[in-house]
Amino acid sequence: METILVYIASIDFKDGSKMYVCLCHGISDKKIMKLTQQHGITDVRGIRQITPLGSMCGKCIRTAKEVIEEAVVATTFKKAG
Ligand code: FES
Repeated sequence: METILVYIASIDFKDGSKMYVCLCHGISDKKIMKLTQQHGITDVRGIRQITPLGSMCGKCIRTAKEVIEEAVVATTFKKAG
């Protein structure tokens, strides 16, 4: 079961549609990216302070870290360019 969830969470949607990172709380990658950029968050701890992400099964933590890293890189490039 865990392998299937990780696979689904790592699909790259080129059409811009959202994917759920935290299925237990219905938190999408777009919501994590938006909150990361709005609040200057750089790690999962920051997201967990303002959302319940990871508070049930915790299987979303690894994917959430990847989404946050992407958001931080995107923000850095946006500021630089
Ligand atoms: S998927 Fe996030 S707590 Fe279960």
